[in-house]
Amino acid sequence: MPADAKTNNALEAPRLGEPYLLTPGPLTTAFSVKEAMLRDWGSWDGDFRAMTAELRRELLAIAEDETGEFDCVPMQGSGSFSVEAMLGSFVPRDGKVLVLMNGAYGQRIAQTLKYLGRAYVAVDKGDYMPPRGSEVAAALDADPAITHVVVVHCETSSGILNPLKEISEAVYSRGRKLLVDSMSAFGAVPAGVLDFRYEAIVSSANKCIEGVPGFGFVLARKSELEAAKDRSHSLSLDVHAQWAYLNKTGQWRFTPPTHVVAAFLEALRLHRKEGGVAGRGSRYAQNRDIMVSGMRQLGFETLLGDQWLSPIIVTFFSPAHPNFKFERFYELMKARGFIIYPGKLTVVDSFRIGCIGQMDGHVMRKVVAGAAESLAEMGVDSAAPPALALAERARLAA
Ligand SMILES: Cc1ncc(COP(=O)(O)O)c(C=O)c1O
Repeated sequence: MPADAKTNNALEAPRLGEPYLLTPGPLTTAFSVKEAMLRDWGSWDGDFRAMTAELRRELLAIAEDETGEFDCVPMQGSGSFSVEAMLGSFVPRDGKVLVLMNGAYGQRIAQTLKYLGRAYVAVDKGDYMPPRGSEVAAALDADPAITHVVVVHCETSSGILNPLKEISEAVYSRGRKLLVDSMSAFGAVPAGVLDFRYEAIVSSANKCIEGVPGFGFVLARKSELEAAKDRSHSLSLDVHAQWAYLNKTGQWRFTPPTHVVAAFLEALRLHRKEGGVAGRGSRYAQNRDIMVSGMRQLGFETLLGDQWLSPIIVTFFSPAHPNFKFERFYELMKARGFIIYPGKLTVVDSFRIGCIGQMDGHVMRKVVAGAAESLAEMGVDSAAPPALALAERARLAA
């Protein structure tokens, strides 16, 4: 962790009585981020237009777009709105998409394409297995009609970090285009234009930049933005129209979330101060390492092997002990000041603990201590998962 990350006021505990959100966004934000929302802004005013310009510039800097080939288009709404905007704007109506699915957010991409009436096929790896470059290559070779591949960077439903580099190489070596949902990874995991090739990438305000919810953003190649004119199915989710209007007037097309933007600029300042993507990523990785090793000492098992664990969120199998009930564990953790997250696996019971937000190793040690106390209060003397969970993990890993 960079030296000044520890001393920035952002890593203070949340306000008295406010629990830590061990969830993958909304997450625990710095006090100064919340404070930045304590004034009103006129959306058409020059001051706010300058704030929007700064936001776009800063996000392009995080993506390390030194070539000037990309631009940043903020979109109102939650992250799913920006994913839908990206798909509806960059996939031509007669295009065909290969969706790489290994969890809920990949499935949502397929569902969105269905709504949009875009043809798609999927490589479905189930709850959490990673789609590999070789599988993408084989699927593209088998179907020359595919024009685009869409992938989730960190599949937040399991916490797996998908192998974007090999996927991107497979896509571009076969002359197709890549669109990325990097909602929960951008800002903490390298996702710049030089890290792997893509046409567009999406994230939102309330993830690794540590702002509050209210808008998402699309970073896209300008040539793709130009080609998207008149393509979108939707007035409000038309990325080209938003881009063109922003460039012409400096304003968002429709009412922007002014306070959220003000908070985001403060969040960006703290991101910079922490050392950008590298600094933020190393704090999150340290959070994960401390938390995972502590939980393993209590007997908990992670769903994924170490090489696939993201620094964003970790899935643990629920203990097999008959006294363990997730709802009770949740309440006991909450009483200690920690909001955890239910699991999303379909085959075995699980829960998730996030590593992102204004938290450091000191907090993560308290999370582990809170888990130990909660287990003791429930009368659970072993956190070992059922044999079925371990067998399922071994079967899928084979
Ligand atoms: C990878 C990913 N994609 C899409 C979304 C959807 O974002 P939202 O819930 O803000 O619509 C999320 C939310 O956590 C996510 O993690």
